[in-house]
Amino acid sequence: MRMTLSVIKADVGSIGGHTKPSARMLDAVRAAVQRAIDEHLLLDGFVAHTGDDIAIIMSHAEGKNSARIHDFAWAAFLEATDIARRQGLYGAGQDLLVDAPSGNLRGAGPAVAEITFEHTLKAPRPAESFMVLAADKCGPGAYNLPLYLAFADPMYCAGLMLPQMIKGFAFHVIDMDNAKADSIVELAAPEESYHIAALLRDNERFGIDAIVSRTYGEQAVAVSAQRLHSIAGKYTGKDDPVAIVRNQGIFPAPEELLSPFAKAHFVGGDARGSHVMPLMPVPLNTAVTGLYCLPIVSCIGFSLDADGRFSEGYTDFFANPAWDEVRLRAQAKAIEMRSQGWSGAAMLPYAELEYGGFRETVSGLLERFRLRA
Ligand code: 13P
Ligand code: 13P
Ligand code: MG
Ligand code: MG
Ligand code: MG
Repeated sequence: MRMTLSVIKADVGSIGGHTKPSARMLDAVRAAVQRAIDEHLLLDGFVAHTGDDIAIIMSHAEGKNSARIHDFAWAAFLEATDIARRQGLYGAGQDLLVDAPSGNLRGAGPAVAEITFEHTLKAPRPAESFMVLAADKCGPGAYNLPLYLAFADPMYCAGLMLPQMIKGFAFHVIDMDNAKADSIVELAAPEESYHIAALLRDNERFGIDAIVSRTYGEQAVAVSAQRLHSIAGKYTGKDDPVAIVRNQGIFPAPEELLSPFAKAHFVGGDARGSHVMPLMPVPLNTAVTGLYCLPIVSCIGFSLDADGRFSEGYTDFFANPAWDEVRLRAQAKAIEMRSQGWSGAAMLPYAELEYGGFRETVSGLLERFRLRA
């Protein structure tokens, strides 16, 4: 069966500030997903939140960029937006940036990641297991470093030395400066891994769009790399990317994929999307309530049965207590970084900040400059 996994995520309102959606909003989206399963639009679906973002995880046979699937997700987010408005929640409808999307949500605000593949349950995929990463309070390139390390560096993924992976992976890198159309370059790891790093080091401009096995032609990864401020022309909240990562067998194993997250690496995001702060791995359905407004990432895993259903629930990778140590390290790194407040590397460069109110503050001051006589 040719099937597609779609993850579509949006922030359409949250309680007590930018923390988490309300239970009624989540119930409405879950009910919409159940209706779509009953009506056979979806093979299966799952709804959860990471911070203030609601993610809809779907399996279906409609293909990528399907108007039916994207319109369905948009309608579900509109329903949740109505509830958020009635409940007086913060940021109701925040990520729904256009009036009526034309059957494709890419460029309309919600984060979209999709992979289509032949679901056979035979070689080279005798079992289909995959993970969904969802991040909140962070910029679009938050996965650049961890996915690079997992798919291009045997220090993190020793499995890359095995016959099924030793030819490496193709990285499709997107230039997010081009808001009008997707502009993508395909680079091959390991031969071009320095070239890949040269782009991915800039988390605000370049992002991983897809990663594909060079041995099997199978797509391992899809990321929702896009910049909201390029769409809206102003700051409307952080980009908060999602990713689908197929694992095991011809792809890295979960632990090989997740070990780079033990760094709690610094990303753009945090309060007002303006700071440089560590990415903290958290269990699913975590609210953003800690010290500061740390960028967070959740990761859950599913297996697909022969009918494309999510078998028996999900695995919550970052709920394991082993990650407590990383969370503490992230918090310590955050306290260090914030001790220098607004200075230098602690905040994003002006090119990023100029989409928010900082632009007005600084342009008002620039007018007051005078050449020294
Ligand atoms: P198991 O024996 O538990 O399946 O371990 C397999 C493995 O290879 C871990 O990556
Ligand atoms: P969200 O995109 O999660 O709403 O984050 C916005 C923000 O500005 C945090 O302060
Ligand atoms: Mg928000
Ligand atoms: Mg958010
Ligand atoms: Mg956001």
